[in-house]
Amino acid sequence: MKLNSPQINVITRACMKASRSLIRDFGEIENLQVSSKGPGDFVTSADKKAEKTILNELQKAHPDYGIITEESGTINKSNLKNRWIIDPIDGTMNFLNGIPHFAISIGYEEDNEIKCGVIFDPIKNEIFYAEKGNGAYLNNSRIRVSKKKKLKESLLVTGGPKHSSKIKEKIFSEYVSVSENIFAPVRKFGSAALDLAYVACGRYDGYWQRELNYWDIAAGIIILREAGGFTNFFEVNNDTPLKKNILASNANIHDELSDLIIKKNIE
Ligand code: IPD
Ligand code: CA
Ligand code: CA
Repeated sequence: MKLNSPQINVITRACMKASRSLIRDFGEIENLQVSSKGPGDFVTSADKKAEKTILNELQKAHPDYGIITEESGTINKSNLKNRWIIDPIDGTMNFLNGIPHFAISIGYEEDNEIKCGVIFDPIKNEIFYAEKGNGAYLNNSRIRVSKKKKLKESLLVTGGPKHSSKIKEKIFSEYVSVSENIFAPVRKFGSAALDLAYVACGRYDGYWQRELNYWDIAAGIIILREAGGFTNFFEVNNDTPLKKNILASNANIHDELSDLIIKKNIE
């Protein structure tokens, strides 16, 4: 670990602890997939167990901090000064299907501004982390976004739409229009947190997605920014502050990607 703010240390400890049971549970999935019951309930309980471990660790350190977490909702609602933003498993569908591409994602906010975050992929043993003003890291190495200059030559990733989405057609047509403007087929890997982390370390050049929840991306935002990338939110709805449409990329292609996605949708 190259950073050592107290919050980063607390988050990392929580991630390491929760990951032990996640790794064990992931190892069981293959057996459950062939059972008549399937792995659905098992995964729900793995998710809840991981969240419980994370909450215990974070609350042990700071019982008064506010918390937004996917499974249990909001805790200590009135504390807006210090907040943890938690997704115990981002990439649940991958986890459920035995695909080793999911992560724990935890961000820390002060006065509504993300100060640090950790995304931990326990199967690949990759920990992405960043702290405001101190750069972004993967394991012990500094990471930076790619230097790709042309959108056309970029590797992009997206996700969704969810089954419940009311704007599926819009999301599909956006996918088509972006695809028509670049050479490489757009990726969909099923973990928003890792999508952002991968842009941060230059594996992808850009990422966009609609209808995300704040816990999917809170940690990823600071990691990407500290790696030299740009993020912005589009079509913001102030009535639903935890719902986000995000665009994230290296600095070079950001304008071109924004023009394609954001301007087109203003028409
Ligand atoms: C999901 C993943 C996925 C994204 C979905 C999210 P979950 O989170 O981040 O990549 O497309 O919108 O809900 O359910 O696996 O925590
Ligand atoms: Ca998620
Ligand atoms: Ca989740």
